[in-house]
Amino acid sequence: MPRHTIRQPKSDTDLSGLYCEKEDLPETISSESLFGNDRPLEIEIGSGKGLFLAAESIANPDRNFFGIEIIDKYAKHSAARLLRAGSRDHGNARMLAGNAEPLFESRIPEQSLEAVHVYFPDPWWKKKHRKRRVVNEKSIVNYAKSLRIGGRLHFWTDVLDYFEDTVEMIAVLAPGLGVPVPEEEIEAEHDLDYRTHFERRSRKYRIPVYRVRYEKRS
Ligand SMILES: C[S@@+](CC[C@H](N)C(=O)[O-])C[C@H]1O[C@@H](n2cnc3c(N)ncnc32)[C@H](O)[C@@H]1O
Repeated sequence: MPRHTIRQPKSDTDLSGLYCEKEDLPETISSESLFGNDRPLEIEIGSGKGLFLAAESIANPDRNFFGIEIIDKYAKHSAARLLRAGSRDHGNARMLAGNAEPLFESRIPEQSLEAVHVYFPDPWWKKKHRKRRVVNEKSIVNYAKSLRIGGRLHFWTDVLDYFEDTVEMIAVLAPGLGVPVPEEEIEAEHDLDYRTHFERRSRKYRIPVYRVRYEKRS
């Protein structure tokens, strides 16, 4: 994501319960440890400006949503969006300022998640930089392990080779995720009809988007 200025919440904005840092995290990441209940838990990796997390947590009060965003000011911006959207009243959404990769390696129990969402991850265009992509051989195996049977992995990108590589890697490394199901573009009438800020941008500039969902079978 281009690193231009992003609106920050005022210093006296109370983001408690909506924003946390790595040091505040429980050892094991689960609905129980984060939200104190056993609702299904969905994790978004790279929440950016937080549109998805705010809209989904309001629309689905029976599920919990945990957004992981590596850039602190974006994580805070997203948490402030959750506050404005009223997610605190549902008590079902929280942002973490941190790196998703190590958390998926060791702190998320196997077969525990309802869904993993990755929308428009940074493309890292140059071949020599591709190993920095957040969806990679290791993370795919970790996502697959973390999902319960029937759990979903959503992956959307506007980078064709990222899309093709991901579908290919999943087929080889995580066949238990099943077959890729294309996800449809939804007719957008207002802001919340876009799943994420980057989807809105891609549609505005008529950039093709590749959308896929997996539902874990085994
Ligand atoms: C291109 S932006 C897309 C943001 C949002 N998903 C959207 O569609 O509007 C990718 C986001 O992923 C974040 N990100 C990159 N690597 C990450 C990681 N390892 N863990 C968590 N967030 C990460 C970036 O800081 C950036 O905000």
